[in-house]
Amino acid sequence: MDPLAPALLERLRLASQAARTHAHVPYSHYAVGAAVLDDQGAIHAGCNVENAAYPQGWCAEATALGAMLMAGGKRALAVLVTGPGPCVITPCGGCRQKLREFGDDGLLIIAADPTGIRQTWTLGQLLPASFGPGHLAHSASHPKG
Ligand code: THU
Repeated sequence: MDPLAPALLERLRLASQAARTHAHVPYSHYAVGAAVLDDQGAIHAGCNVENAAYPQGWCAEATALGAMLMAGGKRALAVLVTGPGPCVITPCGGCRQKLREFGDDGLLIIAADPTGIRQTWTLGQLLPASFGPGHLAHSASHPKG
């Protein structure tokens, strides 16, 4: 599956844009939508959800990953994130790590704003030398090592 195929990319963009309209952003007024493409071709969307206790808010990417899991999705191939512009949105460090849990270095991160797609990276570019599930693969048999 090629997430950059025009028809699929447009579906991702529209899902992300629609999710953005649900953003709960009374504090920053910075509405974000995210749409994750899983390895079965399903799309899962989410928005950012802020909180009066500021650190308790979370990003659109986190909502979208939760939606993926709730729908039975396992692996993410791409995420398209839509912000308000004019600066190109880029996932925060925490979201890069959250994406790493469900994707590899080739996961595509596509930034958009209401005018359209602005920039594309791979997760490997935005989170090089990452720590991931593979690091823990052998730790169960070596609890102290
Ligand atoms: N935010 C996201 O939802 N995703 C990003 O990629 C960048 C930032 C949110 C967090 C917060 O609700 C608002 O944008 C301003 O930081």
